[in-house]
Amino acid sequence: MQFQQKKFFIETFGCQMNEFDSERIIFILENKGYIKSGNPDEADIILLNTCSVREKAENRLFGHLGSFKALKIKKPGLIICVGGCTAQSEGERLMSKFPYIDIVFGTSNIGMLPGLINDRFVKNRSICNTGELPENFDYLYDFKRQYDFKALLPIMVGCNNFCSYCIVPFVRGRERSAEPEQIINAVKKLAGQGVIEIMLLGQNVNSYGKDLVNKSYGFGQLLRDISAVSGIKRIRFMTSHPKDFTEDIIDAISENNNIMKHIHLPLQAGSDRILELMNRKYTSGKYKELYYMIKEKIPGCFITTDIIAGFPGENEADFLKTLEIVRELRFNRAFTFIYSQRKGTSAAPMQDIIPDDIKRTWFKKLLDEQNRISLQENEKLVGKKFEVLVEGFSRRDYHLEGRLENNLIVNFDGNSDMTGKLIDVEITGAKSFYLTGKLYDKQKRKSD
Ligand code: 5AD
Ligand code: SF4
Repeated sequence: MQFQQKKFFIETFGCQMNEFDSERIIFILENKGYIKSGNPDEADIILLNTCSVREKAENRLFGHLGSFKALKIKKPGLIICVGGCTAQSEGERLMSKFPYIDIVFGTSNIGMLPGLINDRFVKNRSICNTGELPENFDYLYDFKRQYDFKALLPIMVGCNNFCSYCIVPFVRGRERSAEPEQIINAVKKLAGQGVIEIMLLGQNVNSYGKDLVNKSYGFGQLLRDISAVSGIKRIRFMTSHPKDFTEDIIDAISENNNIMKHIHLPLQAGSDRILELMNRKYTSGKYKELYYMIKEKIPGCFITTDIIAGFPGENEADFLKTLEIVRELRFNRAFTFIYSQRKGTSAAPMQDIIPDDIKRTWFKKLLDEQNRISLQENEKLVGKKFEVLVEGFSRRDYHLEGRLENNLIVNFDGNSDMTGKLIDVEITGAKSFYLTGKLYDKQKRKSD
């Protein structure tokens, strides 16, 4: 039974959809008797779940592949598998560039992985399988998760938007939504297993349902129906596109306490000219209208965003418009990126004359400004009490980590048996990206 003893090591790059896919890979391989290991040196199979959204992520992957080549020389039986978005888009090309890769598998081929690995052991030749299979959501939902108390749940896959810079529609295909009953059943099942927090995933999560037969059932209704499932204490979702964010969704959030008050709402740019070149289908004015409506109808709602600096053709005046809107709206957090040309996208042939050092200066300015704003906003929370979901010990130190409703992380001292529970914490300090706190002392408050 030597086959049953084989160990695998998996590394995940990129977004939460990839995190979810990796969770599924782990389940599928463990189910076949493989043992997960945190150490690539002792693994018989190495899996890399890749991201192709920006060139930087791909370069990191290529660096990793280089180091695994050395391992393979030491251990010729080692099997190297590459999956995810780069595998999907590069396919055979990845194999000719890195001939020591054994298996390339696409984003819809995860279920076939044990068979592919078996074939590789038996036939001893490399395999590339990136064919598009119809997505079966029931199959996607039916597996044991890594955490007992929280779960990622894709409700739709793919994207129809074709923002001009973005590779996602090319690697994840067109939008496909799961049926509402499938989702509700999956949520009920998870709740029955003790899960209290669900993170709904989709590349464009709030356009959920547009491809279904029943056109009147949208994301707002889905949120309401999930909110009514007994045992579910926290519902999150990402990522939302501003053009699909309806008032009905805002109302669903404001009416239901178990829908978390955090919306990730990528702005991408503050200049209308650049937004149009990006094919974002909204203006900065429309974005602001939506932003203020959310802030008014959902008091205390955190809004985070994504911004790209240095899109082809962007000039100083365009960039200053982005800086201005960042200053005006005071996002709670912004993930800022330097534009990265992606082969096959409609922005790829656009003339890009901005020198790299200017792009870096803009990027740094945005980052500094946003960090200052995030810190100021977080400092407003000091002295207040919040319910947090304890996620375990911090990787940085011995503190526990808890997540506030607004998605901020707080570090505090506590016991490991608090993991997976909702606990009250008082905020004692703030940084740009996280908070520090202490267990809320009810007795002390009463005697104050
Ligand atoms: N270059 C830079 N950033 C990009 N993003 C997507 N594609 C690119 C690209 N080609 C950013 C967007 C998106 C986030 C996930 O990644 O801001 O919202
Ligand atoms: Fe990419 Fe735009 Fe789709 Fe988001 S909405 S995945 S940025 S194409």
